Amino acid sequence: MTTIPTTQKSLVLPAEGSPYTVVETAVPHPGPDDVLVKIAATGINPFEWKVTTPIFSWLIPGYPFITGTDGAGVVVEVGENVSNFKTGDRIVFQGFMKENAQATFQQYAITTAALAAHLPESVSFDAAATLPATFGTAALIFFNPYAETECLGLKPFWEEGGKGAYAGKPIFIVGGATSLGQYSIQLAKLSGFSPIITTASPHNAALLTELGATHVVDRSLSADAVLAEVLKVAAGKPFEVAMDAISSPETQSIAYQVLAPGGALALSLPDQISAELKKDGDAKRIVFIHGSVHLPQHRKIGGEIFARLTGWLEQGVVKPNAFEVLPDGLAGIVGGLERLKNNQVSAKKLVARPQETPA
Ligand SMILES: NC(=O)c1ccc[n+]([C@@H]2O[C@H](COP(=O)([O-])OP(=O)(O)OC[C@H]3O[C@@H](n4cnc5c(N)ncnc54)[C@H](OP(=O)(O)O)[C@@H]3O)[C@@H](O)[C@H]2O)c1
Repeated sequence: MTTIPTTQKSLVLPAEGSPYTVVETAVPHPGPDDVLVKIAATGINPFEWKVTTPIFSWLIPGYPFITGTDGAGVVVEVGENVSNFKTGDRIVFQGFMKENAQATFQQYAITTAALAAHLPESVSFDAAATLPATFGTAALIFFNPYAETECLGLKPFWEEGGKGAYAGKPIFIVGGATSLGQYSIQLAKLSGFSPIITTASPHNAALLTELGATHVVDRSLSADAVLAEVLKVAAGKPFEVAMDAISSPETQSIAYQVLAPGGALALSLPDQISAELKKDGDAKRIVFIHGSVHLPQHRKIGGEIFARLTGWLEQGVVKPNAFEVLPDGLAGIVGGLERLKNNQVSAKKLVARPQETPA
């Protein structure tokens, strides 16, 4: 039996404007519907450096603040109502930045058992830690029918008639090499979209083609050239759906113009499309996701997605991102976030192992 310590190491923002620091915090106790997880690996997301800047710091619910939304590890304690996990199980789950106890930048975290997945032996903790935040977000964007302003509401590929339901329809995915983009390409393929057109640096074209993209447009081309190339590939077929995993003002504008009247565009950051572009009022629907399965509007389908994730991983239906393990456990996250901020990470997830944090 694993001995659970009373304290642990956590990577904390102690106060507004202060840097991430590794400190000792209490190990939380699971509520009746939760499990306590000893975290073997956590993925790192751009949000975690953005939230230290004045533009995004309002999202922090209070200080000291712990974040981290990608968790993989071993269940060490279960709440009294939990029937789908037992101690010793391997688990992958989305952390929740609204509750320090549910954040993954620490050695132990609690999570809601109904929103987590069993992790097959064939998938390492490091690989699993690339999944929860961005795979979860991509799946919610595509398939959640209960959040019309956030999600596309496509027919889920796991339901009858869902696999290949969009055969022959083009989709445009901006930023295919992002973690979010790589999972979106895989979901688009499962849904049958064709062609699947994405933007990336040319050195990532082979990887994205393997995941399901049919055309990779060089992201360094001018906006006009990207737009022309995407429309040329579709050869007149209307884009009913587009997804912008980058969502800069420029990429949003391209994606919006690609979209056919009445189509739906999913954004990963808030809408910055100009009024000038929107003035024709052609009934294009723009959605912006808050990609957490823990939010009330995402819990129902989020639980369903995570319950099925185990099988998808076992069968190779969903492939985790490539990853790089950072040195020094939680302490190494700080340098990793700096690299993400400076666009020095291409087509892979940075992963930290909290248990390897130096004393
Ligand atoms: N709303 C939500 O709930 C939610 C959830 C998750 C993520 N996000 C946001 O979604 C975005 C993507 O997150 P992520 O973690 O998936 O990113 P990531 O993996 O860190 O993205 C890195 C990749 O971005 C690509 N890239 C950078 N600028 C590009 C451009 N102009 N066009 C095309 N590709 C570009 C690079 O591609 P190349 O290497 O090919 O150059 C690089 O490989 C972030 O802004 C993040 O904050 C939002």
